[in-house]
Amino acid sequence: MRVLTGIQASGKLHIGNYFGAMKPMIELQEEHELFTFIANYHSLTTSKDAATLRQYSIDAAVDYLSVGIDPNKTTFWMQSHSPEVLELYWILSKFTPMGLLERAHSYKDKVARGISANHALFSYPVLMAADILMLDTQTVPVGKDQIQHVEMTRDIATKFNNEYGEIFTLPEHLVQEEVATIPGIDGQKMSKSYDNAIDLFMETEKKLQKRCNKIISSSTPLGEPLKWEGDNIYNLAALFLDNSQKQELRARYTSGKEGYGHFKKYLKELIWEELSEAREKREYYLTHIDEVHDILAMGAKKVSEISKQKMGKVKDAIGLL
Ligand code: ADP
Ligand code: TRP
Repeated sequence: MRVLTGIQASGKLHIGNYFGAMKPMIELQEEHELFTFIANYHSLTTSKDAATLRQYSIDAAVDYLSVGIDPNKTTFWMQSHSPEVLELYWILSKFTPMGLLERAHSYKDKVARGISANHALFSYPVLMAADILMLDTQTVPVGKDQIQHVEMTRDIATKFNNEYGEIFTLPEHLVQEEVATIPGIDGQKMSKSYDNAIDLFMETEKKLQKRCNKIISSSTPLGEPLKWEGDNIYNLAALFLDNSQKQELRARYTSGKEGYGHFKKYLKELIWEELSEAREKREYYLTHIDEVHDILAMGAKKVSEISKQKMGKVKDAIGLL
C-alpha cells in the first residue's frame, strides 16, 4: 500500500507530536511503501520570514530522521525540491470549484481567527491534492482536522477522471483513533501554543526534570495514598509503559510511600530513556548536516522521476503540449 504523509514544520516538537503523529507514522514504514515530505510550500502560507522557514524545515527533517524515519525504507524529501507538484497544482485548480474551497474548515477557521487570507491559504487544499494525486497515493494518515482535505482531493480527482479518463487514484484517509490527546503539564491538550508542552529534545536531563516538576498535580501530603486516575504525571508516564508496568505504577501511587516528586522523577527518566537513541542520532545528524541534505536529495530525485512520468500522462490527457 502506498502511504503519503506531509509534515508541516512549525518549530520545536513536543511529546504530544511524538506520540500523536511521529511514532504512528514511523511504524507505517515497516509494512507499507511510505512517502514522507516536509511541506515547506504549505508552510510558506503562514511563514513569518525566510530564516524561520528555512530553520523550521531543516529542523523537522533532522528531528524526523532522528526519531526513526529510515531513508532506506521511506522516501523522504523536501517538498520544494520536487517542484513538479506545482505544475499539477495549477492543472488541478481547473477542476476545483470555488465553492469547494470556500467550504474548507481550516481556511474558514483561520479567517475567523483574524488571519488575513491570501490566495495561497485559500488554495492550500489544491496543493495538498496535488501532493497526494501525483504519487498515486492510496492512504493518507491524518489528524481529524485534515480529513476534509483528503475528501476534497477525492472530489478533485473524480472530476478530473470523469472528464479525461482514469488518471488519478482516489486516496483514502486513515485516522489513527487509538492515539488519544496527550495532555500537557497543565492537563490541557499539549500544544506549543499553550505554553504547556514538554519538548521532545531537551538539552539536558536537568532541564527536562525542571519541566516535569512543573506538571500540575493535586496536593496530597506525603505519606498518603495518591490517586492515579486523572493525574497528569500518571497519564504522561502511562504513554511509555506496557500493561504490567502500568499496574506497578498504580500500586506505587496507592501505596502511600511515595509522593508526586518521585513520580516526576520517574517520568523524567522514562522520557529521557525513550529518546536516548533519537538524541544520539540527532546529535549525529546535526554535526553531519550534509548527510541530511543528501537523504532529502535522494528522496526528491525519486519523487521527481515518478512525478515527471505522471505529469506526462496528465498533460497528454488534457491536451497540454
Ligand atoms: P501544536 O498543537 O503543538 O501546534 P501541531 O498542530 O503542529 O501541534 O501538531 C502536529 C501533529 O502532532 C498533528 O498530527 C497533531 O495531531 C499531533 N499532535 C499535536 N499535539 C498533540 C497532542 N497533544 N496529542 C496528540 N497528538 C498531538
Ligand atoms: N496539510 C497537512 C497538515 O497541515 C500537511 C500536508 C500537506 C499533507 N500536504 C499533504 C498531509 C499531503 C498529507 C498529505 O498537517
